[in-house]
Amino acid sequence: MQPTTISIQKQFRILQPREDWSFRDAGRSQTTAFTHDYHRYPAKFIPQIVRKLIEDYAPDTAQIVCDPFGGCGTTLVEAKLLGHPSIGFDINPVAKLITQTKTTAIKPRTLINHKQKFLEHYDAAPQVSYQHHPRITYWFDEETVAELDKIYFAIKKIKNHNVRRFFLCSFSHNLKNCSRWLMKSIKPTIDKDKIIPVPKQSFLRHLDSMIRKNEQFYSKLAESGRTNVTAKMYRRDSTKTFPIESGSIDLIVTSPPYVTSYEYADLHQLSLLWFGDDPKHFKKWHHFSNGFIDFRRNFIGTSSKAEKTGDFNSTLGKQIVEDLMQIERPLAVDVANYYLDMQKVFAETHRILKKGGKACVIIGNTSLRGVEILNAQVAAEQMHAAGFTKVDFIKREIPNKMITPWRDLESGKFTGMDNPSKTRAYEFEYVVVMEKN
Ligand SMILES: C[S@@+](CC[C@H](N)C(=O)[O-])C[C@H]1O[C@@H](n2cnc3c(N)ncnc32)[C@H](O)[C@@H]1O
Repeated sequence: MQPTTISIQKQFRILQPREDWSFRDAGRSQTTAFTHDYHRYPAKFIPQIVRKLIEDYAPDTAQIVCDPFGGCGTTLVEAKLLGHPSIGFDINPVAKLITQTKTTAIKPRTLINHKQKFLEHYDAAPQVSYQHHPRITYWFDEETVAELDKIYFAIKKIKNHNVRRFFLCSFSHNLKNCSRWLMKSIKPTIDKDKIIPVPKQSFLRHLDSMIRKNEQFYSKLAESGRTNVTAKMYRRDSTKTFPIESGSIDLIVTSPPYVTSYEYADLHQLSLLWFGDDPKHFKKWHHFSNGFIDFRRNFIGTSSKAEKTGDFNSTLGKQIVEDLMQIERPLAVDVANYYLDMQKVFAETHRILKKGGKACVIIGNTSLRGVEILNAQVAAEQMHAAGFTKVDFIKREIPNKMITPWRDLESGKFTGMDNPSKTRAYEFEYVVVMEKN
């Protein structure tokens, strides 16, 4: 019998963490294997979860996997390694750049040759002061910008599109290292004491590590005959209709943004600002950097949205919003907006799946101003209302070694490790697996 919304809540209440989903023994070398470590990205899930879900729910390699919140491409990379065609969406252009790079295996020799040519171009780069977005001078000192300009100049000399993007991905990752950004911070914060690395050294160090990881990825795909398995990534707002035919996807594996936690647009602003200055190579990116406020508003879970109208189909979600209304209206509005947005995504997710296709949503609960925000339960209710039926609800412990951010007990906002009234933001998370009948 299918659960009602009350029984969904009951079922969650009695869930025990499942040891086989903790991946306690997965060390860093496994979680960052292949191309998974090309670029830092907030809240990426570990590849082991995705791998298990694909193996459990899409045993045939012809089955197509989709991630509507593709982020830095964990789902698409794992799908490709397992031989599945995949498709991903994300509103963040940086996510698209990273994912396309991570899913494209390049002949190792080609990269070595291009690195040599890159060094020659770097040495020959003119010392010109380019015009940059004013925010660039806030984040970088003048000397660093001049060095970064030389690196960028040499990268743009690379004609091969895939190789140039590979170098740009390393450049994008390196921007934060070379800026005044406080590295551990999940908010844009200046680190006054930061010792800025030499840009060229820091860039090459990361490039070399990517070159090694590409070799691992390339060999693995070549030996399994999967080099040409497709992985398509698009920049899209997933609250809008997906450009996919109804009933065409076999499996969805995704981890949605959380409400008022990461401001993805803020966190990637250095890459947005840098590439936004270069419309010739990054068509459209200047819209994002110049119209940053509007761009940021379209991210799900951001706190900068205007109040939306509409009803969302979750009894529990409505209760959570009502409870928050008593405490802090703007926060209640953020959460209501979030559930309204997620409702649209679940409806679209249902439309694109084949009958019998599964949707796996990896999501954590949290608390804001003392109110428990039961995202997993609300997601299950919303999916149920969208026409899905339950397959499995899994509770998994996030082992301590995988650092999760801290929240302030009172305000619910992210905080640092040194705050005495901190609590772990996400100790457990859930995998909600549902099916389209
Ligand atoms: C939790 S992250 C996904 C991380 C991903 N699982 C990974 O391993 O990289 C959520 C993603 O949702 C994206 N996002 C937020 N609002 C969106 C929207 N309206 N449409 C599409 N993607 C959105 C963010 O840019 C972010 O990349």
